[in-house]
Amino acid sequence: MADVLAARLSRRQTLRGGMSVTAAALLGGVGLTACSSDDDNSSAPAPAPTPAPAPTPATPPKLGFTAVAKNKNDLVTVPEGYQVSILHALGDPMHWGDESWKDDGSESADSYQRRIGDGHDGMYYFGLSDAGAYQAERSDRGLLCVNHEYVVAPYGLHPAGRSAGAARNAAEVEKEIYAHGISVAEVRRETAGTSMVRGSRFNRRVTSATTMDFTGPARGAALLATKFSAGGTQTRGTNNNCANGYTPWGTYLTCEENFLNVISRAAGDDAKRSAKEVVGLNRYGLPQNRKSPYLWETAGTADLFARWDSSVVGASAADDYRNTINTFGWVVEIDPFAPDSVPAKRTALGRFNHEGAWPAPAVVGKPIVMYQGDDARNEYIYKFVSKAVWDAADVGKGLVAGAKYLDEGTLYVAKFNADGSGEWLELTYGKNGLDATNAAYPFADQGDVVTHARLAADKLGATKMDRPEWGAVNPLNSEVYMTLTNNSNRVATTATPTGSQLKPDAANPRYYEDMKGTTSQKGNPNGHIIRWREDAASVTKFAWDIYLFGAQADAAADVNLSGLTAVNDFSSPDGLYFDKRGMLWVQTDDGAYTDVTNCMMLAAVPGKVGDGGAANAAGGTSTIKGANATADTLRRFLVGPKECEITGIAMTPDNKTLFFNVQHPGEEGTPDWAAKTYGSNWPASQTDATAKKRPRSATVVVTRKDGGEIGV
Ligand code: FEO
Ligand code: CA
Ligand code: CA
Ligand code: CA
Repeated sequence: MADVLAARLSRRQTLRGGMSVTAAALLGGVGLTACSSDDDNSSAPAPAPTPAPAPTPATPPKLGFTAVAKNKNDLVTVPEGYQVSILHALGDPMHWGDESWKDDGSESADSYQRRIGDGHDGMYYFGLSDAGAYQAERSDRGLLCVNHEYVVAPYGLHPAGRSAGAARNAAEVEKEIYAHGISVAEVRRETAGTSMVRGSRFNRRVTSATTMDFTGPARGAALLATKFSAGGTQTRGTNNNCANGYTPWGTYLTCEENFLNVISRAAGDDAKRSAKEVVGLNRYGLPQNRKSPYLWETAGTADLFARWDSSVVGASAADDYRNTINTFGWVVEIDPFAPDSVPAKRTALGRFNHEGAWPAPAVVGKPIVMYQGDDARNEYIYKFVSKAVWDAADVGKGLVAGAKYLDEGTLYVAKFNADGSGEWLELTYGKNGLDATNAAYPFADQGDVVTHARLAADKLGATKMDRPEWGAVNPLNSEVYMTLTNNSNRVATTATPTGSQLKPDAANPRYYEDMKGTTSQKGNPNGHIIRWREDAASVTKFAWDIYLFGAQADAAADVNLSGLTAVNDFSSPDGLYFDKRGMLWVQTDDGAYTDVTNCMMLAAVPGKVGDGGAANAAGGTSTIKGANATADTLRRFLVGPKECEITGIAMTPDNKTLFFNVQHPGEEGTPDWAAKTYGSNWPASQTDATAKKRPRSATVVVTRKDGGEIGV
């Protein structure tokens, strides 16, 4: 009823911009407080203040909050003097005309093309000018792009979880397809707080069914040919969008990670493929006779479903979806300021389990540099360097600028040497043996190299890492940080590795046992954060050390190598973000220390590469570590609700509003739908300890009660 009324009010009031207090009151509820209607079409928009840009300081600020204690509450716990509110959660309508979230799974599949998706993950805030363009320093009005990584089974979308049966229910699958992808939402800071502007003309969903262009060296390749685009120039959908990036010209980058969740391949398919194709499919985790966990292809013969089966069934690649697998794993560029623009899969940046793509600060006259990680055990860290050099006049030029900087350039993969030096190895067809003579996988051209970047990196002997997650570049000195979340495949230096097991090396040095209650966890259960400084004179050289080792405070000294204490001990770093002041934010996606605490977010003021020294890691491998953490340099800022991952970080340019995401609260619980008991009741539990509501992924807004800057 409120939605219908509000839709009427909205239509009537669009002309004068602004929504009545009555309508706002009717719309009370999570994520829908203080809504404003879009005023871009109004004849007299209210003038908005344009704050002066915050100057970048030479040194980072001091941490100025009381550390939050580890806990297992079903709440977001922030320091004293801070407050939180929910910006949006799974299923919230972004436009007028769709009903508000009902907490019963009754929302239609179709409506998820206009609702906030599931599994909030990476995100970025872009300031929005009065004229509707990118305004980097604007803090009170912006576009928040959020990844919706995946559908958190069994909660949320369906009336009572996923229906049983070998063949999936078509309506459920359709809803899941639309609940993946990206949301772009206008956000406004007003007296009552920061909220999503329902009905904004910028509000948009990009889903696992949205049409996209391929650009760069693999565009038009036979490897990308499908029934949908025989020429391999287009595809549909982005999926398992994990972390993200952004560009200096004001576009969003979203990265495709665990796309194997939705792609199957038939038994006997190998016999219908070339030997080379089979090598590529296996290297990317898709052996024949492999069923995806989500089984989308079983929902029917309609193209919306059939295309998730990456098997040979037609006469040629133009007749089936054998190449679906090759259409995922890319960096996708979206122009949030152009809601009708066609997203671009930028193939020059390579294809793998793309966690994210993080830019170095743009320098006029220098190339654009993007750092990237492949989040799987024993995979690699990559760097892309554009051919074109940065021209600040390209700010605001959207996908045209994207084509200029991201479609031509050089892709590298990292090798970390034991002495603290490192090398970027070039992944260019015709160089370093990356051609048809490569025995393991004969490369045809650069399109083949980027599509099979892992196989190219194998050939060059890059360093296999402990699951590269997020990266971030320090704005004060351009040093690059990347989380290595954990790795259960590291084995003792005395062991004989089998299968995908690896012995430790200097850059992934720890092997130890950590107990989770009575459960033994071996390898590198708590993860670490590596960092490097590029050589000023050479694009292919760098120096590295390990900034921080995750550990519980009472672990042995050769495990707790960074000297963590009760105010800052953590496990499995994942999200990472430098704000403009040079304060580093670290988030966890942990399953190792969760017997003691829910996942968390910490604030840090890091030093620099070389501020520590040599160390011996648990298991006997020598490494190079940064200076030990102290309560002054690393402090726990918040702890999340039950069974969640804390991920996604964005800060307004004035450093006064922090956004972060809670993903999959209560994911381990077995729901009792009739009794409405769930593993978590967050976000409802944030304000009502007795709430019996479904857990939902959501974006949280953090502010200081006194309106000051965050963290200081
Ligand atoms: Fe989706 Fe690598 O976390
Ligand atoms: Ca433990
Ligand atoms: Ca992640
Ligand atoms: Ca993770």
